[in-house]
Amino acid sequence: MTPKEETKLAETPDEQSENVKVTLTLNGNTKHIQWNKQIPLLDAMLHAGIDAPHSCCRGTCGTCVCKLEEGEVRLKRNFVLSEAHVQQGLILACVAVPISATVKINYDEF
Ligand code: FES
Repeated sequence: MTPKEETKLAETPDEQSENVKVTLTLNGNTKHIQWNKQIPLLDAMLHAGIDAPHSCCRGTCGTCVCKLEEGEVRLKRNFVLSEAHVQQGLILACVAVPISATVKINYDEF
């Protein structure tokens, strides 16, 4: 009698659905990173080794402001940006969570 082996097929998570493709321009350089949907945009950039500007990380100082050129995000909180700023596409990376599957942001022009 052979011992019964429990063979479990490892389910490969669909990484595409967990990540958002980010194209970002900072200090004249354009880079592409993957943004895990579970974390704020700022954290995704810092994890990817990008020296994105930040300070409070709570949506209160405005240091992380950048322009959303393509895609859609939601700000978990916002104590800085006026309605006019939001209309211009400005976002706070530290409190931004993704809605669309790709986003394009720019720190250099806004
Ligand atoms: S780091 Fe302060 S608002 Fe984002």
